[in-house]
Amino acid sequence: MGKENTDYLLSLFRTIPGFPKAGIKFRDYMPLLADAKGLGILLEALNRALPVPADQIDAIAGLEARGFLIGVPLAARLGKGFVAVRKAGKLPPPVEHADYSLEYGTASLEIEEGIIRPGARVLIVDDLIATGGTAHAAKTLIESVGATVCGYSFIMRLDGLDGCDQLGDAPISSLVSMP
Ligand code: PRP
Ligand code: ADE
Repeated sequence: MGKENTDYLLSLFRTIPGFPKAGIKFRDYMPLLADAKGLGILLEALNRALPVPADQIDAIAGLEARGFLIGVPLAARLGKGFVAVRKAGKLPPPVEHADYSLEYGTASLEIEEGIIRPGARVLIVDDLIATGGTAHAAKTLIESVGATVCGYSFIMRLDGLDGCDQLGDAPISSLVSMP
């Protein structure tokens, strides 16, 4: 992505110090979604920056909630199916379950049993990687059903938290970074 588009996307992130807890600098991409030009640039950039070629991806997994908002349009654009990785208690049983921690707490993720076929190559999509706890939990779920994570696509990487280090060998794409 060129500097002009990178700067445009970065300009549409809002930073909220102290939310949802003291000490956190919250990076909010809702203004980017709300901007028609920004949304167009974003989807094109995610598509161009895929960490693996599209023909090596069988499904897109989006992480609740912010990962859903880009995962579905990206999946539709690539002609792939979309798998919702949801916060615990939202999906009907039977489900696979994984606990994790992130910058401001702990949580659990789930997927519906049977929603991913064993052997499928799955691209994990989310707005942001901070500690990597959420994406790692999604990887655990995907692998628990005999599928593999072929890559990760994020809009933003938070520097200084080493989130990418715990995601294994699959390639990672992030469009922009902030401290
Ligand atoms: C945010 C973000 C990522 C996660 C990243 O989600 O959308 O999923 O945190 O943090 P990590 O790398 O430290 O795990 P959040 O749990 O706030 O939920 P939301 O998408 O429902 O707002
Ligand atoms: N998820 C984890 N850390 C975050 C942050 N600093 N801003 C927005 N989302 C986050």
